[in-house]
Amino acid sequence: MCGIVGFVGQGNAKDILLSGLSRLEYRGYDSAGIALYSRPFTVVKAVGKLNELKKKIAASKECELPCSMGIGHTRWATHGKADEKNAHPHLSMHKEVVLVHNGIIENFADLKNFLQEKGYSFYSDTDTEVAVNLIEYFYLKEKDVLKALLAVQKELKGSYAFAIMFKDDANTLYAMRKDSPLVVGKGENGFYPASDVSAFLDYTKEFYKLENKEILSITENEIHIYNKNGEEVKRSSTVAELDSSMIHKGEYLHFMEKEIFEQPQAVKDTLLYACNQENNCFSYESFSMRERDFKEISRIRVIACGSAYHAGYVLKSVCERLARVPVQVELASEFRYNHPILETGELVISISQSGETADTLAAVREAKKLGAKTLSIVNVIGSAIAGESDFVFYTQAGPEIAVATTKAYSCQLVAGYIFSLLLAKAKGKINDTEVHSLKDELFLLPGKIQQCLSLDSETLPMAKKLKDDKNIFFLGRGLDWAVSMEGALKLKEISYIHCESYSSGELKHGTISLIEKNSPVIALISQEDLATKSISNIHEVKSRGAKCFAFTMENISVEENDFTQILIVPKTRPLFAGSLLVVPLQFLSYQVSLLKGLDPDKPRNLAKSVTVE
Ligand code: F6R
Repeated sequence: MCGIVGFVGQGNAKDILLSGLSRLEYRGYDSAGIALYSRPFTVVKAVGKLNELKKKIAASKECELPCSMGIGHTRWATHGKADEKNAHPHLSMHKEVVLVHNGIIENFADLKNFLQEKGYSFYSDTDTEVAVNLIEYFYLKEKDVLKALLAVQKELKGSYAFAIMFKDDANTLYAMRKDSPLVVGKGENGFYPASDVSAFLDYTKEFYKLENKEILSITENEIHIYNKNGEEVKRSSTVAELDSSMIHKGEYLHFMEKEIFEQPQAVKDTLLYACNQENNCFSYESFSMRERDFKEISRIRVIACGSAYHAGYVLKSVCERLARVPVQVELASEFRYNHPILETGELVISISQSGETADTLAAVREAKKLGAKTLSIVNVIGSAIAGESDFVFYTQAGPEIAVATTKAYSCQLVAGYIFSLLLAKAKGKINDTEVHSLKDELFLLPGKIQQCLSLDSETLPMAKKLKDDKNIFFLGRGLDWAVSMEGALKLKEISYIHCESYSSGELKHGTISLIEKNSPVIALISQEDLATKSISNIHEVKSRGAKCFAFTMENISVEENDFTQILIVPKTRPLFAGSLLVVPLQFLSYQVSLLKGLDPDKPRNLAKSVTVE
C-alpha cells in the first residue's frame, strides 16, 4: 500500500528509481512520482500506472541532467483522490524539503491546524503534505536535520515510512519509519532505501532493516541509523535469500500466470520447510512451538483478511475434523471491535501473505493484549506480524507480486493442514500410521497440483461462456464452501464481475430468488459424503433455469446432463481437495480477466499489502 524508494550514490538516480518503482508497483498504482536532487528539486508526477510517469520523465529536460540522489513513490490513494496534486513526492511550502510517504498520519488534521496557525498553506488533500511541512517547520526552527526529525517523530501519530531530501544537503538522503516497512539496500555504488527488498534486488541483495522509530541518514558511502533518542545504533546487514529472477515475469505474460505455475514448487517447499531433516517428519518446531505448546491448545481463533481469511476456513474444517479442537474464524478488521472474548488455552492464529496487513497486525496486538498466545502463518520473513507473534510459521511461496494471491494462498492451505496434523498428533487424536499416511498424501500434492496446471485449456471455454455475465454464484458445502469463497473472490477482484459464494444449503433461505434463466452457478463438489446433497441443491437451481458448471474430483460421480461443463481434478484425500480445486478456479478468473481486456496483475482500486485500516 504505497511503495517508496530512494537512491544516493554513483549512478543515474532517475533510472534506478524507475526500476525500483516498477518492482513496487504492486503496492499501489493510482499515481507515481519521483524527486531528483537539484536546486530547486526536480519533481515529476503522473496519475495512473508507472508508464504514465515514464512518458512524462522522457519528455522532461530537467530529468535529462545527471543526478545521483532521488526519491520515488507509487501510490494507493488514502487521503485525497488519485490526482496529480495528491501524488507524491510532496514539497514543503518553502521548498526546503521533499518527501515520499507510505502510511497514514492519523493526527494530520490537528497538525494541519497547527501549521496553518504558523502561516503554512497547503496545495493537496494529503496527510503527507502535512508531514513534509512539519519537518520543514522543525528544520527551520532547529537548523539541524536530526533534531528536526526527532521532534517530528514525537508529534506524528499513525504509521509512516518516509524518504526525505533537504535542499541544503546535496549529499545526504534521510529516511525514517514507524509501523510501515523500511529497508535499505547497500550496493557497491550507493544505498537504496525502499519499502521492500524487491525494489533494489536488481542492484544488490545486501540490506539493513530499520526498526520502528529509527532514523536513517545515508550518503554515497556512509550509513548511520539513529534510535528515537537520537543515539546512533549499530546494525549488521542481512543478505536477501531472494534472486532477482523471482521478481521478473520471465516467459510469462503476467505475474499471476507465473505464480499459478509456481504452485507445485511453492507447496513442495512449504512441506519441506515443515519437515525435520533427521526423521523426515513434520516438526512442531517449524511453527517455532514445542509439543507441549500444541498440547495446551484448547480452542483456536483464526484472524485474517481476504484470501487469507478463506484459508482460515479451510484450516477450521481440517483442524476440527482431525484434531477435534474448535476453531473460530474471524475477519481481522472486525476482531478488535467485537469485544473479543478469548479463553485460557485459546491460540490466536493470524494468516497473512505480506505480514503487513494493518487489520491483521492490529488484531494480533489486541489478542496479545488480552493475554493470548499468538501464532502467525506468514510469507514475508521479518514482517511486522511475524515479529510481533509468539510463534511463526513461514510459508515458502517466495515473492508474490500479482495483487490477486495464488501461490501464497496455496501455501497457507498447506500450513493449515500441517498445523492440524501436528495438533491431532499432539492431542492423540490420530495414530502414527494415520500421521504417516496423511503426510504421504500431502507430499503427493505438488505432483497433483502440477497435473491441475494442464486444466487451463478446459477452463478457457468456461471463461468464454462466463465473461459477459454480471453475477455469478459459487456453491459448495463444508470444505467446498470454504474454497468456493476463494474462487468467487478471485474472479470478482480481477474480472469485476459480481460473484458471491453461498453454502449450497443456505441458498434456498433467500438468495435463490436471484436465480433466473441462465444465471451462472459454479458448484464445487469434492466431498464424497456431501456430494448427493450438493447435487440436490444443483437440481434446485437448475430447475429454475440456472446454467451450472461443476468443479469436482475424480472419484465423485456427477450427471453430465446437470452441467454445461464438468471440470475434474485428480483424486486426493477429501481434506486436501481445496489445494487442487483452487488451481482451475485461478485459471478461470485469470482467463476471464484477459478476455475482458483487463490487467489481472493490477486490478483497479486494489493494492497488494493493505497497510491501512
Ligand atoms: C486477494 C488477496 C487479498 C489478501 C488480503 C490479506 O487475492 O490477495 O484478499 O489475501 O488483502 O493480505 P495478506 O495475506 O497480505 O494479509
